[in-house]
Amino acid sequence: MTVSDNRAALPMAGHTHGNRSPVTCHLRCADACFKPVPNQSTDETFHSIASRALSRRSAMTGAFVLSVAAATTLTPESAEAAGSNLPFNPIGATPDDVDAVRVPGGYRWQPVIKWGDPLFSGVPALSARGTTPAAQARQFGYNCDYLDIMPDKGSTTRGILVANHEYTNEDIMFPPGTDAKFMARTALAAHGMSVVEISRSGAGAAWKPVRDGPPNRRITGTTPFTMSGPAAGSPLLRTAADPMGRRVHGTLNNCAGGTTPWGTILSGEENWNQYFLCAGTSEKEERYGLGPDGDERMWRSVDPRFDATRPGYRNEPNRFGWIVEVDPEDPASTPVKHTALGRIKHEAASVAIDKATGKVVVYTGDDERFEYLYKFISRRHYDDSGTAAAREHNKKLLNDGDLFVARFTGDGRQDGVCDGTGVWIPLTMGGKSMVPGMSLDEVLVYTRLAASKMKATPMDRPEDVQVSPMSGRVYMACTNNSKRGLPGEPGTDEANPRPENKDGHVVEITEMDGEHTSRRFTWLLFLICGDKDSAGTYFGGYTGPVSPIACPDNLAFDSRGNLWISTDGQPSAIGLDDALHCVETAGTYRGRVRQFLSVPAGAETCGPVIHDKDGSVFVAVQHPGEDGSWEAPQSHFPDYGKGVFKGPRPAVIQVTRA
Ligand code: FEO
Ligand code: CA
Ligand code: CA
Repeated sequence: MTVSDNRAALPMAGHTHGNRSPVTCHLRCADACFKPVPNQSTDETFHSIASRALSRRSAMTGAFVLSVAAATTLTPESAEAAGSNLPFNPIGATPDDVDAVRVPGGYRWQPVIKWGDPLFSGVPALSARGTTPAAQARQFGYNCDYLDIMPDKGSTTRGILVANHEYTNEDIMFPPGTDAKFMARTALAAHGMSVVEISRSGAGAAWKPVRDGPPNRRITGTTPFTMSGPAAGSPLLRTAADPMGRRVHGTLNNCAGGTTPWGTILSGEENWNQYFLCAGTSEKEERYGLGPDGDERMWRSVDPRFDATRPGYRNEPNRFGWIVEVDPEDPASTPVKHTALGRIKHEAASVAIDKATGKVVVYTGDDERFEYLYKFISRRHYDDSGTAAAREHNKKLLNDGDLFVARFTGDGRQDGVCDGTGVWIPLTMGGKSMVPGMSLDEVLVYTRLAASKMKATPMDRPEDVQVSPMSGRVYMACTNNSKRGLPGEPGTDEANPRPENKDGHVVEITEMDGEHTSRRFTWLLFLICGDKDSAGTYFGGYTGPVSPIACPDNLAFDSRGNLWISTDGQPSAIGLDDALHCVETAGTYRGRVRQFLSVPAGAETCGPVIHDKDGSVFVAVQHPGEDGSWEAPQSHFPDYGKGVFKGPRPAVIQVTRA
């Protein structure tokens, strides 16, 4: 049965706000918001105290952070004052049924690459009936999320595009009645990542994909990966097909990611649990959402490893949930899964080089309600000499290091600001477990359980994390948490101050002494999102007009230190199409949110990549027209009737100065 056959019966039908599609909840996150919160680790005392405190705290929240934004529109004068290389007047709010990309006056958009575009000669283009397993394995994949556009050094006309492909929507991709095994094999090929050479006529021009470009590559749900780090080879990672526990096929449900200073791509495996049929009887499975209702896509019909109830395959789900690293310059290289960074539902991996020590630090969020923020610190130092040997050295840095999880402590609300101090709690150090009762490989494979034992702070869905190139501060998007403060769930705290947080917030972290390897930090809530007129919102202290914003997800910085925030869930939270916003993080306009674009109906804004010096903004438009079907599309982006495939196609777009 397809999702469209049964939409009204989907678990989240009737439970989403506004026009948020229950299909997105079902296909991407396996209805995670409908199910019990996996993190049941907080003790009874904490739950009961939190619940009792809720009524008092709820009453305080609105007054605690003053709602500051005036209810007026932004003016051209205010936009010019930003002094950006991308000057723009913010677009107005886009109702959540508009099937168009909207950009500011003076800008235009065009697709760079779309689902189904062939990366190689001889590969068929998308047909009216979609694609095939063999073609999809050599075409651009579905539902692009993390994105980077990397111009070659010294060239203005050539570069490499890397995108990952989070999940598939078979209702849109295939006509009714398509064979289930055919769909499963195609969907496996539509997941993963794409590496594509791109070219253009000169600076500021539109990038185009190069068919047969030397780096061109598809990584799919079946591509071989090597396991690296302390848990590689662990009995917890061994299966009948891989008795050594070191070689895994495929990467799944890749969400946000990061680009390393040595030019490789990191990508987080997020809601990978949904592809596996599991008994779901142990805490180690339940905490990751693994259970008997998994694998609706029936991938086990074409590959038995997706049935993790079978003897010999019970560890297969342990081989997903990692940060993967891909070298886009070497299409023959074997990509790596890094066990030293822990196994969670990784949302992103943002890399910083610690100035004092030269060590590599990777920040990564775990996107589920009441999960945690982590950071990894490499044992060895980054080599910035630029030689080929240095690059090979740097590509091994994530094999070995220490893993930490964050605990946030508020300093009290009487100061009128949500802020406080924090510590990074070690989970592994010097190749040893720091968690009582857990071995090193257990900490790395069951990282959520380890972090709970060490009393990390449960956050409102930590999504992307980015480090400011100007200030070195670390920004984390907490997208929302509909369960915060409900009976039996953790209550509000200063780092997660709103009950049933539907709009999300952005945390600003300052590492002690400006060192990314520090064990201590201070923090404050930089944005408390929502419609500017609603109580409890906060915009970095800025008191002028701002664009409404909700459900911050992916983050990026431009060269001036402005934070660009893409959203996932604005239709549900504030009734607007998802968007890309720009917000200053310093100076007079710190906290001023201005909307740069909105994406078509049903879509989420991913990427983004900001080449402000080049006058370009890139976003990955994911799941346009999510609620539709092959026969009845609800979006026509980006071809709008001009292509043979009539439905929507997830695509990377470039916005340039007109
Ligand atoms: Fe795939 Fe957390 O978004
Ligand atoms: Ca405070
Ligand atoms: Ca995301």
